[in-house]
Amino acid sequence: MWQATVYTLFPEMFPGSLGQSIAGKAMQQGIWNLKSVNIRDYATDKHKTVDDTSYGGGTGMVIRPDVVHAALSANLHPKSKLIYASPKGRPLTQAMIRSWLADYPDGLGILCGRYEGVDQRVLDYWRENHELEDISIGDYVLSGGELAALVMLDACVRLLPGVLEKSEATTNESFELDLLEYPQYTKPQIWNNTVVPDVLLSGDHKSIAAWRLKEAEITTQTRRPDIWKNYIANQKTGKK
Ligand code: ADE
Repeated sequence: MWQATVYTLFPEMFPGSLGQSIAGKAMQQGIWNLKSVNIRDYATDKHKTVDDTSYGGGTGMVIRPDVVHAALSANLHPKSKLIYASPKGRPLTQAMIRSWLADYPDGLGILCGRYEGVDQRVLDYWRENHELEDISIGDYVLSGGELAALVMLDACVRLLPGVLEKSEATTNESFELDLLEYPQYTKPQIWNNTVVPDVLLSGDHKSIAAWRLKEAEITTQTRRPDIWKNYIANQKTGKK
């Protein structure tokens, strides 16, 4: 079973959306499991203090290194990937999700920060001793790492074997081939005076595939020149 562990001051935010839909069903089936570790449980004083003011001054509180260290030490799976959700991290991509699943089949641990952050010393310690990696889900600042953890876990869980009905469903979708996905149509065939493109009704699988590729290429080129550049480079080297 693929094991996810989140370290958080807000354990009630989990499983959240991951208890519903595809991820929720997979959890019920025992394909994966989620454990939320309440960092506060590892505070040692009688007030259960987890944070304090920032040395050097400034507003906001910083999470104490000793409490985070105790939480990680007590719950870490030695063979799982460890992540710190942070806007300063490496930007998340589909390729990173794939590589975590391939390299760490046992699971994933995600440390969620709050307030102004986590004391740098404990992050450095776990980076040096357990390859902790900072990951960002985009160039904007959330109030904490919990939503980022939900995003990362959702992206992982749907790729676990047995979660989606057809494994091909994930190989053609946006980002997997450095292309955004082609447009989709369903019934009714005529809606709001607009029709479904003829080729999709032709039954000619080769023409349909060619049309879809063309549409995916146009969408990618116009909307995401950054991804388009990779696609063109890969076409030249025959990488994908
Ligand atoms: N915590 C706060 N903002 C974040 C972001 N953009 N990505 C990951 N973790 C975060």
